[in-house]
Amino acid sequence: PLKLRISQAFSTADLGKSVKIQGWVRSVRTQKAHIFLHVNDGSSLQSLQVVAGAELNDQLLTFGSAVEVTGILKKSPHQKQAVELEAQRIHVIGECDPVDFPFKIKERHNLEYLRQFPHLRCRTNAFSSLLRIRSEATAAFHSFFKDNGFVQIHTPVITSNDCEGAGELFQVEPSSVGDAHREFFFSVPAFLTVSGQLHLEVMSGAFSRVYTFGPTFRAENSQSRRHLAEFYMVEAELGFLRSLNDLTKVMEDMFKSTTEQVLARCVEDVDLFHRHVTPGHRASVDAMLKSSFPVMSYSEAVEILGRSTENFTFPVDWGCDLKTEHEKHLVKHCGNVPVFVTDYPYRLKPFYARANQDPPQNTAAAVDLLVPGVGELCGGSLREERLDVLTAHLEDAGLEDTYDWYLDLRRFGSVPHGGFGLGFERFLQCVLGVDNIKDVIPFPRYSHSCLL
Ligand code: 4AD
Ligand code: MG
Repeated sequence: PLKLRISQAFSTADLGKSVKIQGWVRSVRTQKAHIFLHVNDGSSLQSLQVVAGAELNDQLLTFGSAVEVTGILKKSPHQKQAVELEAQRIHVIGECDPVDFPFKIKERHNLEYLRQFPHLRCRTNAFSSLLRIRSEATAAFHSFFKDNGFVQIHTPVITSNDCEGAGELFQVEPSSVGDAHREFFFSVPAFLTVSGQLHLEVMSGAFSRVYTFGPTFRAENSQSRRHLAEFYMVEAELGFLRSLNDLTKVMEDMFKSTTEQVLARCVEDVDLFHRHVTPGHRASVDAMLKSSFPVMSYSEAVEILGRSTENFTFPVDWGCDLKTEHEKHLVKHCGNVPVFVTDYPYRLKPFYARANQDPPQNTAAAVDLLVPGVGELCGGSLREERLDVLTAHLEDAGLEDTYDWYLDLRRFGSVPHGGFGLGFERFLQCVLGVDNIKDVIPFPRYSHSCLL
């Protein structure tokens, strides 16, 4: 027999052929003379209907069991699907006790319930759809960058720098317990990366357009719905870039092009979310794609927040960091479409941000992209390329020796440049309307939780 992935079985080209499929039973229905199974193998949302004579019934053929079915692909008399498999042989490969199995046949478990079973939730329609969408979204980002002339760089996971300077680092050392005076494994303190930006800046000095897409780590002691200790970040860096305008254009193009690709390539899976998991969200996504993203300065944002009658938990003054509640208000103010906020107070931004010459305010050429339901999706900036300004700034922070190599980038063939980072899980939350970030990553890690 021809071995098929179930997603391939629906093409009428194989009608009448003897085929073999392997997967997990999503439903069982027994009649006097027949049994009906639905089998899913993760290749798509669709399950294949298997029809068998009652003599092929088996006690072990239960919801959740793993099976291998051989039979003839037939045109189905049923309305719901075009093709069914007339079974000649059904082999239960792995049993599944339906009493102990945490998911029940025909029940739609919510994402919060599924979260309790990180090792089993991929067996449900909702979470397997999510993971196929995640896989396709990954491909969409890679194709956006490829189509736009970016070179992919594998930036290191282990690094000795704290790019963001926020002190949210996980330190890396071997687990063996040596004597107390043992040296650092790398001779210097080493950490899991919080951002590949500085390594990308190195590379933009040779390739101009570069990007990286990998895991990033932050020891944030936060139980929020949009923070993880391990998340994936898409980062891009562009050489010969002189204005934030040119940067926001790339960010907006990337958001729209990747979202459109996901919608086009994952029609059924996205539909499952937009119909059953997060009903009504599709209209919000369409509105985002149609809009041209508004841009406002931090100072304008502070004015808007100041005029608002909303009762914020955190007060708003010029100079304060914007909190999630403020970001959500600004998005609502703009009609629930993504909005760029630019030119933040200089002292709020890391050492690499380019200073605007605008006393007495003193802002930096930095930009955040805020999106509905999530708040901050991307953070980016022009980088300080002026050797004297950067040196003075690093000296103030006592960092001039640590970042001597970074200053070299400004000494040898320096060009104005800038870039941004996008939180990949937050992107999925935004496109799918998922409230909790723990539901858009296969194995979430956050404070007090590192299951599996
Ligand atoms: O704004 P952030 O901290 O920017 C940077 O790290 C820059 N160095 C990026 C760059 O310019 N190359 O992080 C970028 C994005 C945030 O906007 C947010 O979407 C996401 O990463 N992010 C997180 N996502 C999930 N969990 C966390 N703990 C996150 N922290 C940041
Ligand atoms: Mg940020």
